Amino acid sequence: MNPRNSRQFGRWKAALIGSALLLALPSAMPAAATTAPGASAASGQEQFRKLYLGSAWYPEQWPEERWAEDLRLMQAHGANVVRIGEFAWSAMEPTEGAYDLGWLVRAVRLAAKYDIKVVIGTPTDTPPAWMTQKYPEVLRIDGDGKRLGHGGRRQFSISDPHYRPLSREIVSRMAQALGHEPNVIGWQIGNEYTDESYDPAAKAGWIDWLKDRYGTLDKLNDAWTTQYWSQTYSDWNQVPFNTEKGNPGLMLEQKRYITGQWVAFQKNQIDAIRAHALPAQFITTNLGGLGWANRFDRYAINRDLDFASWDNYVGTGHLQPYRNGASHDLVRGWKRKNFWVMEIQPGFVNWAPVSNMLYPGETRAMAWQAIGHGADGILYWQWRNALNGQETMHGSILGPDGKPLPVYDEVVRIGREMARATPVLAGTAPVSPVAILQDYPSRWTIDFQPHHKDYDQIGVLLDYYAPLKDALGSVDIVEADGPLDRYKLVVAPNLAILTPDMTARLSAFVKAGGHLILGPRSGQRDAYDRLQPRRQPGPLADLLGGQVEQFYALDEPVAVGTGTARIWAEDLTAKAPDTQVLLRYGKANGWLDGHAAALTRQVGKGRITYVGALIDPDLMKTLIDDALKGAGVARDFAVPADVELMTRQGDGRSIVILINHGKEARSVTLPETMTDILEGGTKQAVTLGAEGVAVLQRGTDK
Ligand code: GAL
Repeated sequence: MNPRNSRQFGRWKAALIGSALLLALPSAMPAAATTAPGASAASGQEQFRKLYLGSAWYPEQWPEERWAEDLRLMQAHGANVVRIGEFAWSAMEPTEGAYDLGWLVRAVRLAAKYDIKVVIGTPTDTPPAWMTQKYPEVLRIDGDGKRLGHGGRRQFSISDPHYRPLSREIVSRMAQALGHEPNVIGWQIGNEYTDESYDPAAKAGWIDWLKDRYGTLDKLNDAWTTQYWSQTYSDWNQVPFNTEKGNPGLMLEQKRYITGQWVAFQKNQIDAIRAHALPAQFITTNLGGLGWANRFDRYAINRDLDFASWDNYVGTGHLQPYRNGASHDLVRGWKRKNFWVMEIQPGFVNWAPVSNMLYPGETRAMAWQAIGHGADGILYWQWRNALNGQETMHGSILGPDGKPLPVYDEVVRIGREMARATPVLAGTAPVSPVAILQDYPSRWTIDFQPHHKDYDQIGVLLDYYAPLKDALGSVDIVEADGPLDRYKLVVAPNLAILTPDMTARLSAFVKAGGHLILGPRSGQRDAYDRLQPRRQPGPLADLLGGQVEQFYALDEPVAVGTGTARIWAEDLTAKAPDTQVLLRYGKANGWLDGHAAALTRQVGKGRITYVGALIDPDLMKTLIDDALKGAGVARDFAVPADVELMTRQGDGRSIVILINHGKEARSVTLPETMTDILEGGTKQAVTLGAEGVAVLQRGTDK
């Protein structure tokens, strides 16, 4: 196949643009996963029938005689899965068109002898040197217009029409070689999608995408208010495409277009795999960035995948239970089902400002926290560091001598415990009556114009998350554009953009008896990032029976209710007679003195509440506790400070996982007798030392 063949370029260009069209309109984003040819309902299910433990292994970096010893040591710590291949393009296709996949097949078959299943990574994160030399167009161009060189990774262009067929070809070859290997359970596409490209093909695709979305330049000029600063476009090719801080309307659309490029880049490989592989082999990808990264829309990426995966790293310091736990919940929400942690740190990383080791026991606690939040697979990065390359200082399980490092014993313990817990945990998942809504366009627009340097949207979300999590074993974090009928309480902490669809769904939720809490900045903008012509919360102002008169970035704290607001405060007015003031500012900045900070209104059996300020944790706790009570949400049993309670249910079982994230031992009184899955026996109370973990099954006294 010659990627320079112009007829093929034409076909690929059409495919590129065609896929991008899927994302043409926010409301046109497909809600259901696209079923790839050859896929069946069976695909992507096997991975939920047991817990998987393993690591990233790079057999191509070692003599083949060594492989058996690696696999033996993996099996000895309880590993039952390994991921291979994701950076090995030059070993799979050493020169153009000369494929060598035999070593991959041999590694897969050898792993089977040690009862270790294999996830195959496609190598598109690292194009080989012969390719970047021969087809320099595959190298991406960054937002400043500079073309990247060879020698690192992520230097490829997701939009370049040469790179798509080259990727498709290697992945097709891999799928032909491995798609029917019984020991291959699934595939990971590429690795940690990150950087888009600003090459000519990407720019051409952008212009075509805009033409399709707007039809006429008049519509585009109107949506972006280009009269402002004389930006009016009279030719499509005048529209910029770069990373400069431009018109927010343009920047929001650019995010959608780039999301579409990633979706298409990924779909190209999914189709190649599905054309040849057994339907039971799952397809996922590992998304990184501590879960919260938002260069593109993660919901859109996950629609075509069987389940979501992410890479859970702490970096400097230690596990932050709420932030990390919420990241897992966010990832579970991408597909609204259990997920895998495709990479987790075996003690420490190599890229943080201080790449410190986790405390003894903390590596184990991290694994159990992931499982408690819905992970069914956990893989360490990495098994053994290469003897050279950019990551020789990273934490690993084996040392350069090929023998276990100190963390190995902890990994052995995790393996033993996961094997013990598999029969009760398989088929269970976290279930919550409460959801927090998350929306990428809203995140982007607040990032574009934060208005206060300390306005941290994830922090705002966590302000709500913490008291909810303290009350419940599990909290969902889901897409603002999805169904809400299973929830009693829904919190939208940062929903700056409200589309007509979202407005309809949220209104229906309230009218059906749910309680909706909106945070500051809600409903300020429309899908094009335009200010709504109505005051906040814009299209929900009528339902609330109230509105925001003015927002204020705070340079000093203000009194609100029995507490304090910092960073942000909005001045609210009730407009309907039955809308009540829930919180009032005290003596504040003059503008806010005595005015409403939060409004609430009962609507039938439901309720809508608007909280206009960023309030302190005590006040938030009161607000959330009252909301839970009002919405009829039963609290889970109380646990002491530092102890995290997580719950999973399913297949008639109800599982409780407890972790002591603190340094002092803690005793937890259980509300009923439970079976101790890790230690055996039944318990009415458990004592957890620092980083202690308990896995318990409810209902054993019945
Ligand atoms: C991840 C990446 C891995 C490895 C790891 C080191 O982001 O996917 O390949 O580089 O970081 O922490």
